Amino acid sequence: MTAQTIRAQAQQPLPAQMYDMLNAHMLVQALHVAASLSIADFLADGSKTVEELAQASSSDRASLYRLLRMLAGAGVFAEEASGRFTLTPLGSTLRTDTPDSVRDWALFIAAPPVWAAWSNLLHSIQTGESAFEHTFGMRLFSYMTDHAELGAAYNNWMAKQSALQNGAVLASYDFSGQPKVVDVGGGQGATLAAILEANPEARGVLFDLPQVVSDVTFPESVAKRSEVVGGDMLESLPAGGDVYILKRILMDWSDDIAARALRNCRDAMTESGKVLVIEPIVAESNEPGVSRFLDMTMLVMQGGGRVRTQDEHRVLFEAAGLQLTRIIPTASPLRLVEGARRI
Ligand SMILES: C[S@@+](CC[C@H](N)C(=O)[O-])C[C@H]1O[C@@H](n2cnc3c(N)ncnc32)[C@H](O)[C@@H]1O
Repeated sequence: MTAQTIRAQAQQPLPAQMYDMLNAHMLVQALHVAASLSIADFLADGSKTVEELAQASSSDRASLYRLLRMLAGAGVFAEEASGRFTLTPLGSTLRTDTPDSVRDWALFIAAPPVWAAWSNLLHSIQTGESAFEHTFGMRLFSYMTDHAELGAAYNNWMAKQSALQNGAVLASYDFSGQPKVVDVGGGQGATLAAILEANPEARGVLFDLPQVVSDVTFPESVAKRSEVVGGDMLESLPAGGDVYILKRILMDWSDDIAARALRNCRDAMTESGKVLVIEPIVAESNEPGVSRFLDMTMLVMQGGGRVRTQDEHRVLFEAAGLQLTRIIPTASPLRLVEGARRI
């Protein structure tokens, strides 16, 4: 929920504001279904009747109409007087192949296993444990290994988010003097590829779980300067890097495991090496913002995961034999938390 939405809601009487908040789950699930049925893709080349959309998406016509009508009320689609539906600019963000697409997040965040985990939020609040692990008896990453569709939505969203935010990261950090960059938990390699594109002197190592990187290939322009290594960051990391990037990694893990990953970076990096943690941080003020919502996602989905404050990062770095050298803002919710060997 954005600050703008919260301010718009604040114009309403309090019970209406609360009623709107309580109905948020319906909207999220409706968006998930519309995304799963690729409705925005079917509307990309012009308006369609409900019959056409029902046929294309193998849906029940009457029920699909009710879904579209509800989402038209939310500004996602528009219903013409003729009864045909069109895509609004907002709905267009649910298309598959647009640069600003958030379809993969819609597929992931309300997928039945994720939904089931959130239904056990109370368990997380009462025990501090991951509701996902409580529900499925395993960590999200293990679950996704056997549930390829959920894994694909997650990995694709990570790649998409990177594509949206990489510009902001690159504009905020100077990688030019850094010949070897190791992207720890680098997913499909979108961030590393962007760094190598922008820094022709740099070499890169993409490191992630073997099943995640087994199919990764880099664009031709950077392929000669990049290497893909499958492994477990909690065991050991490729040695001799100058910058170890952990982008949206530590927030998935408890303090002791996050410190272990950081220590493995410290043990592997060159004497003057740097660790660069790239993720949102929780601001000290109570201004509404995405980081506090993301922090709850970590609590529910990732055992012990959390979006940390500046001080929590400092303590974590110290536990790993590092010192936090600076925190660099970017023109995105991400912050760059830089660390070096403690002297
Ligand atoms: C939230 S994603 C971030 C991906 C990427 N850094 C980005 O910003 O798009 C977390 C990544 O950590 C990887 N991961 C999880 N456990 C890991 C482990 N033990 N060793 C290496 N990578 C791991 C996952 O496969 C996933 O790609």
